[in-house]
Amino acid sequence: MYIRGNITLETMDFKGADILSTKGLIRADLDVILERAKFFLPVAKKEKSSQILDGKVLAALFYEPSTRTRLSFETAMLRLGGKCISVVGMDSSSLAKGETLHDTAKVIENFADVIAVRHPQPGSAKEVADAASIPVINGGDGAGEHPTQALLDVFTMIEERKKLDGMTVALVGDLRYGRTVHSLSYLLSHFKVNLLLVSPDQLKMPDEIIKYLKKMNVHFSEMEKLDVAMKNAQVIYSTRVQKERFVNQDEYERFKHYYILTRDEIEKNNASVTIMHPLPRVGEISIDVDALPGAAYFRQVQNGVALRMALLSLVLGAKV
Ligand code: NCD
Repeated sequence: MYIRGNITLETMDFKGADILSTKGLIRADLDVILERAKFFLPVAKKEKSSQILDGKVLAALFYEPSTRTRLSFETAMLRLGGKCISVVGMDSSSLAKGETLHDTAKVIENFADVIAVRHPQPGSAKEVADAASIPVINGGDGAGEHPTQALLDVFTMIEERKKLDGMTVALVGDLRYGRTVHSLSYLLSHFKVNLLLVSPDQLKMPDEIIKYLKKMNVHFSEMEKLDVAMKNAQVIYSTRVQKERFVNQDEYERFKHYYILTRDEIEKNNASVTIMHPLPRVGEISIDVDALPGAAYFRQVQNGVALRMALLSLVLGAKV
């Protein structure tokens, strides 16, 4: 239960729930997820073991390229004692024969207890969830959302900085097509952050999200140059320009290396900044940044396993 003003809000009933977007989550839901991720962190770090999902099966339906997200879901499931079945790529699935996502979902619900799905079409995870009787977790729906990545990003920010309130957080790069920054913006609206949205004009945050930030009274500014973020941010969240979403590849070429974080610049301006990235990076962060104590992008990966353990166990109704 969560109290905001004089309104009492119930936390969501996670058992059987779909996790499609971060927009509908209230702060108390977020707290439940983060607390459970913290609980599972030693299991994700391979320091402890657990069999809490023994007998459960995850179906990972990944119709778009993925390394981290799919393997992170599968690792989370396996290390909690569950099992996984997977579809990788459109060509190897019945979608290539013309099967609808609706029918695929009706089939998979007979095999598995929970579905994680990635698909190039925004809204596709909802289509699967509307059809399936088992919980569905969105692993990225085109340029739409990527809720589990954003949840692990917030978890990482808190792990790294100990708090989020009062922080200046810069989201840098392709804010238009990057689904992680969409989901992350919704989540950051629960904190008293100063948000810097740094992108070229053509890759600005979609209007729908800007409107939401205004409605939620989030303190934010949009800017093209990196210098303010470079000097003032406690967290810089860099993103890849989403090549696969560009109709015009010349335009992609123009923007692909618009922002590059270098070790020199960071050490000169803001040596203690936390640097994050959902990965894969394709030149946005130079390799020599990796050795800086604030380079958190590989720790994000480990936190992602703990976070997905939290979500899988919650939607499957496992008590800890
Ligand atoms: C992100 C994605 O797929 O949206 N990757 C990931 O899941 N870690 C970011 C990206 O592909 O740029």
